[in-house]
Amino acid sequence: MRAIGIGLIGWGTVGCGVIQTLRDNAEAIENRLGAPLKLLRVADLDLDRPRPVAVPSELLTTRAEEIMNDPEIHIVVELMGGLGAARTFIRQALENKKYVVTANKALLAHHGNELFDIARQNGRAIGFEASVGGGIPIIKSLREGLAGNRIDTIFGILNGTANYILTRMTEGGLDFDAALGEAQAKGYAEADPALDIEGTDAAHKLAIASALSFGTPIQFDAVYTEGISRIDPLDVQFGEEFGYRLKLLAIGRNTNGRVGMRVHPTFIPKDHILAGVSGAYNAVHIHGNSVGNIMLYGMGAGMLPTGSAVVSDLMDIARDILAETPPRIAPLAFLPDRLKEIPLKPISDISTCYYFRFSALDRPGVLSKISGILGANEISISAVIQKGRETEGSVPIVMVTHEAVEANVRKALEEIDRLDMVLAPTQLIRIENHETQADD
Ligand code: HSE
Repeated sequence: MRAIGIGLIGWGTVGCGVIQTLRDNAEAIENRLGAPLKLLRVADLDLDRPRPVAVPSELLTTRAEEIMNDPEIHIVVELMGGLGAARTFIRQALENKKYVVTANKALLAHHGNELFDIARQNGRAIGFEASVGGGIPIIKSLREGLAGNRIDTIFGILNGTANYILTRMTEGGLDFDAALGEAQAKGYAEADPALDIEGTDAAHKLAIASALSFGTPIQFDAVYTEGISRIDPLDVQFGEEFGYRLKLLAIGRNTNGRVGMRVHPTFIPKDHILAGVSGAYNAVHIHGNSVGNIMLYGMGAGMLPTGSAVVSDLMDIARDILAETPPRIAPLAFLPDRLKEIPLKPISDISTCYYFRFSALDRPGVLSKISGILGANEISISAVIQKGRETEGSVPIVMVTHEAVEANVRKALEEIDRLDMVLAPTQLIRIENHETQADD
């Protein structure tokens, strides 16, 4: 029986998950595929660092070229991350007529369109299930399971580290740094955790998932992104008092002929289905015109869940190799010449509800001044909390609004933050009240 040869570049957390999955599940994999997946080489610049999963020394090398030039290797798995050498290796592998599997969402968000073109020119495929949602088969669902739909919404929690931090701050009372330290220790965070905390990692994933959903090229630069580093425990507590849970949400919508993509901290009602998604779990709601609403849920990060996604790509590609057929499914679900640039909807045009926390002097007339400016900008208040007296110079005044247009909100807050009685920039957190708002 013909074995499918695998070369792996990057012996890190996900690499260990792939190696362990290939080893522990070899029998089940072979029984499904009809051929074994054989790990022939593992390349990493540092072979001495302790790892949770060992590799026989005869497979190890510090030279990725040995993988590129090995005729026994059919599929190159790129798990080193980053935008530099990883891009070069993937190009080389494709030009050497090898198939590629990668978990590198940053690379695909920035250069996926180019890499998919190179793959097509060489009659090869790039598998990238592990790039979005860790172990959850989101790519396969969008590309195959939901192929009969027009998809208008993709909405959810796409970063395990940020979700872990917010969960531990909400439920465990931890401060931000302690929660981040825990997420790093569990292997959820990126090598540079700023990518998780500032929302960039979720934006990479949203850009990829939106392209697959809406039939556009990947447009990472069009994703509006805010992270969770500016979140104060006070906001988590006030949100709880209003009946909200704080999540870093990724929202992609294709409505009325425009595509909007945004990632930002978001309050959702505590009884919202996503409010119960905690720790490093991810969840994605998708709305298709035939299927209606569906939700996919599972571990969005971690060694074995992400390894599971990589191995599913290996098996899909191995089936094509064994059947000697060219790749049958377009990488972004739509045929490359049918991808369309759809006009973009900027963040200033969205309409949603808002949470504001003003840091103001506790003086007569402050509230009426602030609400006057909001009213003049067509922002209607639905609830207000002011607790305690002034400490350290200011008092937090917290408001929740009815739906308002973002451009009006920004104009009003600029005016409010210029008032002498307002001592610090106002905290703004958007609120999503429904599972999938039809249009915002
Ligand atoms: N750092 C990512 C996360 C890993 O926390 O979700 C999975 O892409």
